[in-house]
Amino acid sequence: MKLAVAGKGGSGKTSISGTLARLFARRGHDVLAIDGDSNPNLALTLGVDPDLMDAVPTLPADLLRRTGDGGIELTRSFDEVAATHSLEAPDGVRLLVMALPKYAGTGCLCSMHAVVKTLIQAAPTGEHDVTILDTEASPEQFSRGTTQHADGVLTVVEPYYKSMETGRRMAALALDLGIPEIGIVANKVRDEHELEAVQEFAEANGLRIAGVVPFDGNMQDAERERRSPFDFNAEAPAVGAINDLIDGVLANGNLNKVPS
Ligand SMILES: Nc1ncnc2c1ncn2[C@@H]1O[C@H](COP(=O)(O)OP(=O)(O)OP(=O)(O)O)[C@@H](O)[C@H]1O
Ligand SMILES: [Mg+2]
Repeated sequence: MKLAVAGKGGSGKTSISGTLARLFARRGHDVLAIDGDSNPNLALTLGVDPDLMDAVPTLPADLLRRTGDGGIELTRSFDEVAATHSLEAPDGVRLLVMALPKYAGTGCLCSMHAVVKTLIQAAPTGEHDVTILDTEASPEQFSRGTTQHADGVLTVVEPYYKSMETGRRMAALALDLGIPEIGIVANKVRDEHELEAVQEFAEANGLRIAGVVPFDGNMQDAERERRSPFDFNAEAPAVGAINDLIDGVLANGNLNKVPS
């Protein structure tokens, strides 16, 4: 299963990606977590020692070449890239970080998005393999095609209009990219009224809610302490809800289908 996690800035993509990765790993899956944000933070949420954060390896730029039939492929096998450029996070999660710009004025990272796209394509697809891509807060994940080889997209929305509308736009782009499995994750939901707002929006726009994660101060407390939500409090309501999200995703064989 290859999942991309998208959504508006600050909606909770990284918190949910990292916690999903840890929970999948604890269920016995072989988890590859890819930080596709040029401002990478996934390592912290996975529980990597914060003092190692600057030492986390990033992907090299020279990983792609043209194939005979005009396509693009990796210059090295997926396993070689994982062996040389991944970092092992707690519970055996393998982390690959796209990039961390060192110098200002050195250009955009479009080519690195192409590397991530090709890596996701090459990632293992066994029964126990799970790849989770944490994306940056921009529809460009879809216009660039970074998420193209994901089987499913979770768009994380907060219960307010601009966030939900961003989720809707991203879901439409994911569909346009040919990703048939798309689910909305309502995050930071404080009460019934907020849940109803997301439900009404989803229904009006033909979107399915894959999971609901409550507003939970543990998430912010964990971050302040520079710890993963799971390590900070495995019993936290938000961690439990993300665990339920896995049940929903797995129970359906994959994600909920978006009605056509
Ligand atoms: N369920 C929740 N309850 C309360 N706070 C939350 C919850 N989920 C995430 N947060 C907090 O919201 C903030 C943003 O979360 P996070 O960094 O995961 O979002 P993001 O979508 O990845 O952001 P960015 O767009 O910058 O990548 C963090 O401070 C995080 O601790
Ligand atoms: Mg993030």
